[in-house]
Amino acid sequence: MQALSGETFLKKLEDAREAVWAKMTAERKSYGAEKPLTADLVVRRLQFGVVMERKAAEVTAPWVAHVPDFDIQQPLSEYVTNELKHASILRERIKELKGDPDALWKSPLPELKELWDFHAGLGSFCELLASVQYGHEEFFPRTSKSFIERVQFLDPKTASIYRDTLLADEEGHEWLAPEALKRYAVDGETQRRCVEALERGCELFARAIQSFNRANPA
Ligand SMILES: [Fe+2]
Ligand SMILES: [Fe+2]
Repeated sequence: MQALSGETFLKKLEDAREAVWAKMTAERKSYGAEKPLTADLVVRRLQFGVVMERKAAEVTAPWVAHVPDFDIQQPLSEYVTNELKHASILRERIKELKGDPDALWKSPLPELKELWDFHAGLGSFCELLASVQYGHEEFFPRTSKSFIERVQFLDPKTASIYRDTLLADEEGHEWLAPEALKRYAVDGETQRRCVEALERGCELFARAIQSFNRANPA
């Protein structure tokens, strides 16, 4: 692939991501992703969150030492801390709701394991940033919005955790992936691998969401 300008490259990544989102949105209702919540479903949803937050931190942490510039390295390490903090907040909430915080962590659905094994195996932090932080993590505010709306009346405390902590922190690190990608993914080959990683990562994410919803009790 010929090297693209930073803006054109980001647009290409964005288009690939939004294509997966459009497909996901069209399918979400068919596998019950928008159905009314019960107390059990809220706990399961939080358990899913624990895996997503903790894994995002785990796959990113090894790359912190490889970032050449301090102004990216330091916020990336903060990102790792933040995601672990989110996992910890979700675990506490599950305990308050008398659930097992690590139920899905200990025995993840095969599709969820495949998603995070894929991220763990990526060969550069540009590919990782494209696939996780600029990829399916961009879906998080959107799926959370739907979750907050549905959980608000049933469990206002959980709704507030998502709205006031998780989503608020998310906004704080959204600038990081595009900035790092523009700075470090400058040759055609790296850019090509980033697009490939994002496409695969988002696809595996969509599959994991589907499998999670299908595994939920009706
Ligand atoms: Fe998070
Ligand atoms: Fe995040």
